Amino acid sequence: MKRILIALAFLILPGLTLAAGGEGYPLLTAPIDLHNKASLQKGAKLFVNYCMGCHSLEHQRYNRMARDIGLTDEQVQQNLIFTGAKVGDLMKNAMPKADAKQWFGVIPPDLTLIARSRGVDYLYTYLLTYYEDASRPYGVNNAAFPNTGMPHVLWQLQGMQKPVFETHKDAEGNETKALKDFELTQPGSMSPPEFKEAMRDLVNFLAYVGEPIQLERQRIGIWVVLFLVLAFVVFYLLKKEYWKDVH
Ligand code: HEC
Repeated sequence: MKRILIALAFLILPGLTLAAGGEGYPLLTAPIDLHNKASLQKGAKLFVNYCMGCHSLEHQRYNRMARDIGLTDEQVQQNLIFTGAKVGDLMKNAMPKADAKQWFGVIPPDLTLIARSRGVDYLYTYLLTYYEDASRPYGVNNAAFPNTGMPHVLWQLQGMQKPVFETHKDAEGNETKALKDFELTQPGSMSPPEFKEAMRDLVNFLAYVGEPIQLERQRIGIWVVLFLVLAFVVFYLLKKEYWKDVH
């Protein structure tokens, strides 16, 4: 019985973490595709333009990224490096940590492993659900990360949106407010579908950065399977040869 309970707990646990969106807002599903090189390239461009001022990718080198997402070293050097770094360098930024702490109250975390620690659905939801909230220092809040210390850095692309709340009443008549949806109050330079796609690309890129070996592993995997199939044929023929006089 105890064992069954433990097994059940393990089955239920992942569901509980999934349900942990802020103010009851569910996580959106990030439609990422690591084989979509165009998407990875667009994501990399968004990252170096809009995120790298504050966040580094300290475990990723520019030239490794170039190779993996289908760019040449020259393309990366010309279009994606703004810090004076060389193409073989790690993707660090120039923000001094002490200053960052003073400016934001928290140090913006390195994002190399963020897709693995938080999950891609969380990142996608986080990037899409900044909303107006006059009570917060930057005038915005977030559905996936309530009271986040990060400003809405993509407001020029997305525009501004206000939250739509839904009131629930429980059996005792207590009312709770839950975040249900958003309404655009000021359009950005991208339409909502364009912005969604851009965030898909950005999350796709962060998923790749979190585990660059994923792409390679699949390539190697195909050869491993082919080898096993071939080995099976050879061994089968050998077995037939060895045993043919015994039967
Ligand atoms: C102006 C500086 C700044 C910029 C630019 C910026 N961030 Fe942040 N970011 C922060 C700070 C500060 C935090 C820490 C927030 C906290 O812990 O309250 C943070 C936290 C995060 C987190 C961690 C959330 C978590 O759950 O721990 C993610 C993911 C993130 N940022 C992604 C991005 C992406 C993607 C971009 C580019 C579109 C970006 N950030 C641009 C300042 C910035």
